[in-house]
Amino acid sequence: MRIAVIGASGRIGREVIDVLKNQGHEVVAITRSGGVDVYTGDGLAQALAGVDAVVDAVNASTTDTDAVTDYFRTIAHTVQRDAAAAGVRRIAVVSIIGTDRFTAGHYAGKVAHELAYREGPVPVRVLRAAQFHEFTEMMLEWTTRDDVAYVPRTRTQLVAARTVAERLAELIVADTAPDLIEVAGPEELNLAAAAAKVAARRGNPARVEEILDTTDPNHEQQADGALLPGPAAIIAGPTFDEWLDQRYPA
Ligand SMILES: NC(=O)c1ccc[n+]([C@@H]2O[C@H](COP(=O)([O-])OP(=O)(O)OC[C@H]3O[C@@H](n4cnc5c(N)ncnc54)[C@H](OP(=O)(O)O)[C@@H]3O)[C@@H](O)[C@H]2O)c1
Repeated sequence: MRIAVIGASGRIGREVIDVLKNQGHEVVAITRSGGVDVYTGDGLAQALAGVDAVVDAVNASTTDTDAVTDYFRTIAHTVQRDAAAAGVRRIAVVSIIGTDRFTAGHYAGKVAHELAYREGPVPVRVLRAAQFHEFTEMMLEWTTRDDVAYVPRTRTQLVAARTVAERLAELIVADTAPDLIEVAGPEELNLAAAAAKVAARRGNPARVEEILDTTDPNHEQQADGALLPGPAAIIAGPTFDEWLDQRYPA
């Protein structure tokens, strides 16, 4: 198949491209740095010429609720419009487990992303993933001040980005598939404890502290397990500790 991957240079995008190419598929890589902007639509119609299927693994740089909602909604409408015109057969979208239990920030944007895609003519399959193992590294980067990382209290069932990419490749290639699946790792984890393990391997930051950020409208749901998978979720390794050993060998 000829498959366009939006967000081709991202954590999930580059992994899914690797999986698809290994399976012999032809990939069209879409990024702004590569000259295609799926928000403005610049270059998109040309990029989708002759494409059979689209994987949307795009991300947003803002977490402001209104801005991120507009961003993801507009992207979904734009991709649907140009995909339909190009005769694309289906679209697979990466989303987040539990996102519809939230009403603010990035999660609200992802709800708009999913809903706007469902309004379009091209059939859509949504893969809702748990936070990636790699998300612990992002958390340390975002939250470290003066050698302490302040990680919000979060119950999560971390999963490897590679594992999500493998399931995403299956979802877009299959002739028939569910229109919504969840993919999570093998065990429930505390995000701060997992991030502390990464910090210990790296030797930086010196300390990880778990916080309950009451200014974040999402803090209660994150702490209460809203991001945990349902009983029908696909559960797949590696475990966080196995991933840690691969990523930071002794
Ligand atoms: N990280 C997690 O733990 C996690 C868990 C579950 C679900 N997800 C979801 O997975 C998706 C991807 O996340 P990620 O962490 O893999 O993303 P990422 O690493 O931040 O990469 C984002 C990608 O999107 C591209 N991009 C951004 N805006 C674009 C635009 N307007 N037009 C074309 N390309 C654009 C970027 O390239 P350019 O900057 O060059 O355009 C980049 O390739 C997100 O929607 C997120 O909600 C993430």
